[in-house]
Amino acid sequence: MGFKALCLGLFCAFFASRMYVPIPGDIEEYWKVAALDIFAKICTFMAMCFESIVSDEYVTVMDTTFVHVPVRLYLPKRKSETPRQAVIYLHGGAFCFGSFKNTAFDSLNRWTAKKLDAVVVGVDYRLAPQHCFPVAHEDSFTAIKFFLQDEILAKYGLDPTRICILGGVNCRTAVQNDPEFKHKIKTQALLYPSLQMIDCHLPSHQENEHGIVLTKDLAIKFVSLYFTNDEILYQAMRRNEHMPLESRHLFKLFRKDYVYTEPILGRYNYSWPVLTDIRALPLLANDSWLQNFPPTYVLTCQYDLVRDDGVMYVSRLQNVGVQGTHDHIENGIHGALSYTEFPLYLRLGFRIRDMYISWLDKNL
Ligand SMILES: *[C@@H]1O[C@H](CO)[C@@H](O)[C@H](O)[C@H]1NC(C)=O
Ligand SMILES: *[C@@H]1O[C@H](CO)[C@@H](O)[C@H](O)[C@H]1NC(C)=O
Repeated sequence: MGFKALCLGLFCAFFASRMYVPIPGDIEEYWKVAALDIFAKICTFMAMCFESIVSDEYVTVMDTTFVHVPVRLYLPKRKSETPRQAVIYLHGGAFCFGSFKNTAFDSLNRWTAKKLDAVVVGVDYRLAPQHCFPVAHEDSFTAIKFFLQDEILAKYGLDPTRICILGGVNCRTAVQNDPEFKHKIKTQALLYPSLQMIDCHLPSHQENEHGIVLTKDLAIKFVSLYFTNDEILYQAMRRNEHMPLESRHLFKLFRKDYVYTEPILGRYNYSWPVLTDIRALPLLANDSWLQNFPPTYVLTCQYDLVRDDGVMYVSRLQNVGVQGTHDHIENGIHGALSYTEFPLYLRLGFRIRDMYISWLDKNL
Protein backbone atom coordinates (compact mmCIF):
# COMPACT_ATOMS: atom_id res chain seq x y z
CA MET A 1 0.00 0.00 0.00
CA GLY A 2 2.73 2.41 1.13
CA PHE A 3 4.75 1.48 -1.95
CA LYS A 4 1.81 2.14 -4.29
CA ALA A 5 1.17 5.52 -2.67
CA LEU A 6 4.83 6.39 -3.08
CA CYS A 7 4.73 5.40 -6.76
CA LEU A 8 1.57 7.47 -7.30
CA GLY A 9 3.16 10.41 -5.53
CA LEU A 10 6.29 10.16 -7.64
CA PHE A 11 4.23 9.84 -10.82
CA CYS A 12 2.19 12.95 -9.95
CA ALA A 13 5.33 14.91 -9.13
CA PHE A 14 6.88 13.81 -12.43
CA PHE A 15 3.73 14.74 -14.39
CA ALA A 16 3.48 18.12 -12.67
CA SER A 17 7.15 18.85 -13.38
CA ARG A 18 6.61 18.00 -17.06
CA MET A 19 3.59 20.28 -17.28
CA TYR A 20 5.02 23.05 -15.20
CA VAL A 21 6.13 26.17 -17.00
CA PRO A 22 7.67 29.06 -15.11
CA ILE A 23 5.33 31.97 -15.74
CA PRO A 24 6.88 35.43 -15.69
CA GLY A 25 6.04 37.45 -12.58
CA ASP A 26 4.60 40.44 -14.37
CA ILE A 27 1.84 38.43 -16.05
CA GLU A 28 -1.55 39.61 -14.82
CA GLU A 29 -3.87 37.07 -13.22
CA TYR A 30 -1.10 34.59 -12.65
CA TRP A 31 -3.17 31.57 -11.57
CA LYS A 32 -5.64 31.90 -14.38
CA VAL A 33 -2.80 32.00 -16.87
CA ALA A 34 -1.19 28.96 -15.26
CA ALA A 35 -4.49 27.06 -15.42
CA LEU A 36 -5.03 28.18 -19.01
CA ASP A 37 -1.58 27.06 -19.95
CA ILE A 38 -2.22 23.51 -18.73
CA PHE A 39 -5.70 23.52 -20.18
CA ALA A 40 -4.47 24.68 -23.61
CA LYS A 41 -1.73 22.08 -23.69
CA ILE A 42 -4.19 19.30 -22.89
CA CYS A 43 -6.70 20.62 -25.42
CA THR A 44 -4.11 20.70 -28.14
CA PHE A 45 -4.16 16.94 -28.17
CA MET A 46 -7.89 16.59 -27.99
CA ALA A 47 -10.20 16.55 -30.92
CA MET A 48 -11.64 19.78 -32.11
CA CYS A 49 -15.09 20.39 -30.71
CA PHE A 50 -18.02 21.21 -32.88
CA GLU A 51 -20.80 23.48 -31.98
CA SER A 52 -24.08 24.07 -33.66
CA ILE A 53 -24.84 27.23 -35.50
CA VAL A 54 -26.82 29.67 -33.48
CA SER A 55 -27.57 33.08 -34.86
CA ASP A 56 -27.82 35.84 -32.33
CA GLU A 57 -29.78 39.00 -31.92
CA TYR A 58 -27.54 41.15 -34.12
CA VAL A 59 -25.96 38.78 -36.58
CA THR A 60 -27.30 36.09 -38.88
CA VAL A 61 -24.83 33.24 -39.08
CA MET A 62 -24.83 31.07 -42.17
CA ASP A 63 -22.63 28.20 -43.36
CA THR A 64 -22.08 27.82 -47.09
CA THR A 65 -19.26 27.16 -49.56
CA PHE A 66 -17.29 29.46 -51.84
CA VAL A 67 -16.43 27.20 -54.79
CA HIS A 68 -15.45 24.09 -52.77
CA VAL A 69 -14.28 25.88 -49.62
CA PRO A 70 -16.53 25.90 -46.53
CA VAL A 71 -17.15 29.39 -45.19
CA ARG A 72 -19.23 30.86 -42.41
CA LEU A 73 -20.88 34.19 -43.06
CA TYR A 74 -21.76 36.64 -40.30
CA LEU A 75 -24.31 39.08 -41.63
CA PRO A 76 -25.50 42.00 -39.50
CA LYS A 77 -29.31 41.95 -39.23
CA ARG A 78 -29.83 45.69 -39.18
CA LYS A 79 -30.59 47.26 -42.56
CA SER A 80 -27.81 49.55 -43.77
CA GLU A 81 -28.25 52.67 -45.88
CA THR A 82 -24.69 52.52 -47.20
CA PRO A 83 -22.62 49.59 -48.46
CA ARG A 84 -20.95 47.71 -45.62
CA GLN A 85 -17.32 46.89 -44.96
CA ALA A 86 -16.13 43.28 -44.89
CA VAL A 87 -13.59 41.32 -42.88
CA ILE A 88 -12.20 38.03 -44.20
CA TYR A 89 -11.05 35.93 -41.28
CA LEU A 90 -8.35 33.29 -41.78
CA HIS A 91 -7.99 31.51 -38.48
CA GLY A 92 -4.75 30.54 -36.75
CA GLY A 93 -3.71 27.06 -35.64
CA ALA A 94 -0.47 26.50 -37.54
CA PHE A 95 -2.41 25.07 -40.52
CA CYS A 96 -2.91 21.86 -38.53
CA PHE A 97 -6.01 22.57 -36.50
CA GLY A 98 -8.75 25.09 -35.94
CA SER A 99 -11.98 25.97 -37.71
CA PHE A 100 -14.47 28.80 -37.81
CA LYS A 101 -16.57 26.47 -35.68
CA ASN A 102 -14.21 26.80 -32.71
CA THR A 103 -15.93 28.79 -30.00
CA ALA A 104 -13.13 31.33 -29.66
CA PHE A 105 -12.89 32.09 -33.39
CA ASP A 106 -16.63 32.04 -33.83
CA SER A 107 -17.29 34.48 -31.02
CA LEU A 108 -14.54 36.82 -32.25
CA ASN A 109 -16.20 36.87 -35.67
CA ARG A 110 -19.64 37.56 -34.23
CA TRP A 111 -18.20 40.32 -32.11
CA THR A 112 -16.33 41.87 -35.05
CA ALA A 113 -19.47 41.79 -37.22
CA LYS A 114 -21.49 43.43 -34.47
CA LYS A 115 -18.90 45.98 -33.44
CA LEU A 116 -18.02 47.19 -36.95
CA ASP A 117 -21.42 46.54 -38.47
CA ALA A 118 -19.44 44.55 -41.04
CA VAL A 119 -19.94 41.30 -42.91
CA VAL A 120 -17.40 38.75 -41.65
CA VAL A 121 -16.38 35.65 -43.61
CA GLY A 122 -14.68 32.79 -41.75
CA VAL A 123 -12.80 30.47 -44.11
CA ASP A 124 -12.18 26.78 -43.42
CA TYR A 125 -9.17 25.84 -45.51
CA ARG A 126 -8.09 22.21 -45.46
CA LEU A 127 -5.58 21.25 -42.79
CA ALA A 128 -2.26 19.43 -42.52
CA PRO A 129 -1.06 16.74 -42.12
CA GLN A 130 -3.71 15.37 -44.53
CA HIS A 131 -3.23 18.39 -46.76
CA CYS A 132 0.25 19.85 -46.94
CA PHE A 133 1.34 23.24 -48.29
CA PRO A 134 0.07 24.88 -50.45
CA VAL A 135 -3.46 23.48 -49.95
CA ALA A 136 -4.42 25.80 -47.07
CA HIS A 137 -3.09 28.70 -49.06
CA GLU A 138 -4.91 27.73 -52.23
CA ASP A 139 -8.21 27.14 -50.45
CA SER A 140 -8.03 30.57 -48.83
CA PHE A 141 -7.12 32.13 -52.13
CA THR A 142 -10.03 30.41 -53.89
CA ALA A 143 -12.51 31.56 -51.26
CA ILE A 144 -11.24 35.14 -51.27
CA LYS A 145 -11.25 35.34 -55.04
CA PHE A 146 -14.81 34.09 -55.15
CA PHE A 147 -15.90 36.55 -52.48
CA LEU A 148 -14.31 39.52 -54.25
CA GLN A 149 -16.40 39.12 -57.40
CA ASP A 150 -18.62 42.12 -58.10
CA GLU A 151 -21.87 40.19 -58.02
CA ILE A 152 -21.02 38.51 -54.72
CA LEU A 153 -20.04 41.78 -53.07
CA ALA A 154 -23.22 43.35 -54.38
CA LYS A 155 -25.30 40.44 -53.10
CA TYR A 156 -24.15 41.13 -49.54
CA GLY A 157 -24.34 44.91 -49.92
CA LEU A 158 -20.59 45.45 -49.59
CA ASP A 159 -18.28 48.33 -50.40
CA PRO A 160 -15.49 46.89 -52.58
CA THR A 161 -13.04 49.51 -51.34
CA ARG A 162 -13.40 48.54 -47.68
CA ILE A 163 -12.25 44.96 -47.30
CA CYS A 164 -9.79 43.66 -44.73
CA ILE A 165 -8.02 40.36 -44.23
CA LEU A 166 -7.63 39.38 -40.62
CA GLY A 167 -5.82 36.47 -39.10
CA GLY A 168 -3.35 33.71 -39.14
CA VAL A 169 -2.77 32.34 -42.63
CA ASN A 170 -0.26 34.04 -44.86
CA CYS A 171 -2.08 33.95 -48.14
CA ARG A 172 -2.62 37.70 -48.18
CA THR A 173 0.91 38.09 -49.57
CA ALA A 174 -0.27 36.59 -52.79
CA VAL A 175 -3.75 38.04 -52.70
CA GLN A 176 -2.48 41.55 -52.39
CA ASN A 177 -0.26 41.34 -55.41
CA ASP A 178 -2.37 39.27 -57.72
CA PRO A 179 -3.35 41.36 -60.75
CA GLU A 180 -6.53 39.31 -61.02
CA PHE A 181 -7.93 41.06 -58.00
CA LYS A 182 -9.61 44.13 -59.22
CA HIS A 183 -10.62 45.19 -55.76
CA LYS A 184 -7.66 45.69 -53.56
CA ILE A 185 -7.59 44.64 -49.98
CA LYS A 186 -7.71 47.85 -48.01
CA THR A 187 -5.98 46.68 -44.85
CA GLN A 188 -4.60 43.60 -43.19
CA ALA A 189 -4.52 42.90 -39.48
CA LEU A 190 -2.15 40.26 -38.15
CA LEU A 191 -2.50 39.00 -34.62
CA TYR A 192 0.67 37.39 -33.26
CA PRO A 193 1.50 36.02 -36.73
CA SER A 194 4.06 33.38 -37.63
CA LEU A 195 5.85 34.65 -40.73
CA GLN A 196 9.00 32.64 -41.26
CA MET A 197 10.68 29.43 -40.25
CA ILE A 198 14.07 29.60 -41.85
CA ASP A 199 15.44 30.42 -38.42
CA CYS A 200 13.97 28.63 -35.42
CA HIS A 201 16.41 30.08 -32.94
CA LEU A 202 15.52 33.75 -32.77
CA PRO A 203 15.57 35.37 -29.33
CA SER A 204 11.80 34.89 -28.99
CA HIS A 205 12.21 31.17 -29.75
CA GLN A 206 14.92 30.87 -27.15
CA GLU A 207 13.11 32.83 -24.47
CA ASN A 208 9.84 30.99 -25.03
CA GLU A 209 11.10 27.51 -25.74
CA HIS A 210 8.84 26.16 -22.99
CA GLY A 211 6.38 28.96 -23.52
CA ILE A 212 2.87 29.43 -22.27
CA VAL A 213 0.30 27.69 -24.51
CA LEU A 214 2.77 27.29 -27.38
CA THR A 215 6.07 25.46 -26.86
CA LYS A 216 8.83 25.45 -29.42
CA ASP A 217 8.64 21.70 -30.04
CA LEU A 218 4.92 21.86 -30.64
CA ALA A 219 5.20 24.84 -32.97
CA ILE A 220 7.96 23.20 -35.00
CA LYS A 221 6.04 19.94 -35.13
CA PHE A 222 2.98 21.65 -36.59
CA VAL A 223 4.90 23.83 -38.99
CA SER A 224 6.97 20.94 -40.30
CA LEU A 225 3.80 18.89 -40.77
CA TYR A 226 2.39 21.66 -42.92
CA PHE A 227 5.30 21.16 -45.29
CA THR A 228 5.90 17.44 -45.14
CA ASN A 229 5.14 14.30 -43.18
CA ASP A 230 8.83 13.43 -43.34
CA GLU A 231 10.16 13.40 -39.78
CA ILE A 232 13.58 14.49 -41.00
CA LEU A 233 12.45 18.09 -41.47
CA TYR A 234 11.07 18.23 -37.93
CA GLN A 235 14.32 16.91 -36.50
CA ALA A 236 16.42 19.31 -38.59
CA MET A 237 14.26 22.28 -37.65
CA ARG A 238 14.56 21.48 -33.97
CA ARG A 239 18.31 21.74 -34.34
CA ASN A 240 17.97 24.77 -36.62
CA GLU A 241 19.96 22.97 -39.30
CA HIS A 242 17.27 22.71 -41.92
CA MET A 243 18.26 25.38 -44.44
CA PRO A 244 20.50 24.77 -47.46
CA LEU A 245 23.66 26.78 -48.14
CA GLU A 246 22.02 28.70 -50.98
CA SER A 247 19.66 30.34 -48.50
CA ARG A 248 22.35 32.44 -46.83
CA HIS A 249 21.20 35.67 -48.50
CA LEU A 250 17.76 35.40 -46.91
CA PHE A 251 19.16 35.95 -43.46
CA LYS A 252 20.18 39.45 -44.50
CA LEU A 253 16.51 40.37 -44.30
CA PHE A 254 16.61 39.80 -40.59
CA ARG A 255 17.37 42.35 -37.95
CA LYS A 256 21.04 43.04 -37.47
CA ASP A 257 20.80 43.93 -33.82
CA TYR A 258 19.92 40.43 -32.72
CA VAL A 259 22.82 38.63 -31.16
CA TYR A 260 22.37 34.93 -31.44
CA THR A 261 23.93 31.79 -32.84
CA GLU A 262 23.44 31.67 -36.58
CA PRO A 263 21.80 28.57 -38.01
CA ILE A 264 23.95 25.83 -39.49
CA LEU A 265 23.37 25.81 -43.23
CA GLY A 266 23.81 22.95 -45.65
CA ARG A 267 23.93 20.17 -43.06
CA TYR A 268 21.50 18.01 -44.99
CA ASN A 269 21.66 17.05 -48.60
CA TYR A 270 18.17 18.01 -49.51
CA SER A 271 16.34 21.13 -50.33
CA TRP A 272 12.85 22.16 -49.39
CA PRO A 273 11.91 24.87 -51.86
CA VAL A 274 8.71 25.40 -49.88
CA LEU A 275 10.72 26.72 -46.97
CA THR A 276 11.47 29.88 -48.91
CA ASP A 277 8.14 30.23 -50.65
CA ILE A 278 6.83 33.66 -49.75
CA ARG A 279 3.28 32.39 -49.89
CA ALA A 280 4.07 30.46 -46.75
CA LEU A 281 6.65 32.86 -45.33
CA PRO A 282 5.86 36.49 -46.10
CA LEU A 283 8.76 37.78 -44.05
CA LEU A 284 11.02 36.60 -46.88
CA ALA A 285 9.36 38.71 -49.55
CA ASN A 286 11.63 41.31 -51.16
CA ASP A 287 11.21 45.05 -50.72
CA SER A 288 9.56 45.69 -54.07
CA TRP A 289 6.98 43.06 -53.24
CA LEU A 290 6.30 44.41 -49.76
CA GLN A 291 5.96 47.96 -51.06
CA ASN A 292 2.57 47.20 -52.55
CA PHE A 293 1.10 46.26 -49.22
CA PRO A 294 -1.87 48.06 -47.71
CA PRO A 295 -1.77 49.62 -44.24
CA THR A 296 -1.00 46.78 -41.89
CA TYR A 297 -1.69 46.19 -38.22
CA VAL A 298 0.62 43.82 -36.37
CA LEU A 299 0.06 42.76 -32.80
CA THR A 300 2.85 40.96 -30.96
CA CYS A 301 3.13 39.59 -27.42
CA GLN A 302 6.25 39.55 -25.29
CA TYR A 303 5.87 35.96 -24.06
CA ASP A 304 5.33 34.46 -27.48
CA LEU A 305 7.52 32.22 -29.58
CA VAL A 306 6.64 34.04 -32.82
CA ARG A 307 7.08 37.54 -31.38
CA ASP A 308 10.19 38.38 -33.40
CA ASP A 309 8.54 37.41 -36.70
CA GLY A 310 5.94 40.13 -36.19
CA VAL A 311 8.47 42.66 -34.91
CA MET A 312 10.74 42.17 -37.93
CA TYR A 313 7.85 42.16 -40.36
CA VAL A 314 6.37 45.45 -39.27
CA SER A 315 9.77 47.12 -39.31
CA ARG A 316 10.39 45.83 -42.84
CA LEU A 317 7.03 47.21 -43.96
CA GLN A 318 7.76 50.58 -42.40
CA ASN A 319 11.18 50.67 -44.05
CA VAL A 320 9.64 50.41 -47.50
CA GLY A 321 7.06 53.08 -46.73
CA VAL A 322 4.02 50.95 -45.92
CA GLN A 323 1.89 52.28 -43.09
CA GLY A 324 2.57 49.69 -40.40
CA THR A 325 1.02 49.93 -36.96
CA HIS A 326 2.64 47.86 -34.25
CA ASP A 327 0.99 47.11 -30.92
CA HIS A 328 3.27 45.20 -28.62
CA ILE A 329 1.80 43.74 -25.43
CA GLU A 330 4.54 43.65 -22.80
CA ASN A 331 2.89 41.01 -20.63
CA GLY A 332 0.99 39.31 -23.45
CA ILE A 333 0.87 35.60 -24.34
CA HIS A 334 0.25 33.84 -27.67
CA GLY A 335 -3.41 33.36 -28.57
CA ALA A 336 -4.58 35.76 -25.85
CA LEU A 337 -7.49 36.95 -27.95
CA SER A 338 -9.02 33.49 -27.68
CA TYR A 339 -9.40 33.79 -23.91
CA THR A 340 -12.49 35.89 -23.78
CA GLU A 341 -14.86 33.03 -22.98
CA PHE A 342 -16.33 31.95 -19.66
CA PRO A 343 -14.92 30.63 -17.34
CA LEU A 344 -11.32 31.28 -18.32
CA TYR A 345 -11.47 34.72 -19.73
CA LEU A 346 -8.56 37.08 -19.29
CA ARG A 347 -8.56 40.85 -19.12
CA LEU A 348 -5.62 40.61 -21.49
CA GLY A 349 -7.87 38.99 -24.12
CA PHE A 350 -10.41 41.80 -23.92
CA ARG A 351 -7.71 44.43 -24.00
CA ILE A 352 -6.22 42.99 -27.18
CA ARG A 353 -9.64 42.67 -28.75
CA ASP A 354 -10.32 46.34 -28.07
CA MET A 355 -6.96 47.40 -29.49
CA TYR A 356 -7.41 45.51 -32.71
CA ILE A 357 -11.00 46.58 -33.27
CA SER A 358 -10.31 50.25 -32.64
CA TRP A 359 -7.50 50.15 -35.21
CA LEU A 360 -9.78 48.42 -37.70
CA ASP A 361 -12.59 50.85 -37.01
CA LYS A 362 -10.33 53.76 -37.95
CA ASN A 363 -8.58 52.14 -40.89
CA LEU A 364 -11.20 50.10 -42.70
C1 LIG B 1 23.60 15.13 -52.67
O1 LIG B 1 22.68 14.40 -53.47
C2 LIG B 1 22.94 14.45 -54.85
C3 LIG B 1 21.81 13.78 -55.60
O2 LIG B 1 21.36 12.63 -54.92
C4 LIG B 1 24.30 13.82 -55.14
O3 LIG B 1 24.61 13.90 -56.51
C5 LIG B 1 25.36 14.58 -54.33
O4 LIG B 1 26.64 13.96 -54.51
C6 LIG B 1 25.01 14.61 -52.85
N1 LIG B 1 25.94 15.46 -52.15
C7 LIG B 1 26.44 15.18 -50.96
C8 LIG B 1 27.36 16.20 -50.37
O5 LIG B 1 26.18 14.17 -50.36
C1 LIG C 1 10.56 40.21 -55.74
O1 LIG C 1 9.86 39.01 -55.49
C2 LIG C 1 8.89 38.69 -56.47
C3 LIG C 1 8.13 37.48 -55.99
O2 LIG C 1 8.93 36.49 -55.50
C4 LIG C 1 9.56 38.50 -57.81
O3 LIG C 1 8.59 38.21 -58.80
C5 LIG C 1 10.31 39.76 -58.20
O4 LIG C 1 11.01 39.55 -59.37
C6 LIG C 1 11.27 40.15 -57.07
N1 LIG C 1 11.83 41.44 -57.37
C7 LIG C 1 13.11 41.73 -57.23
C8 LIG C 1 13.53 43.14 -57.55
O5 LIG C 1 13.92 40.90 -56.86
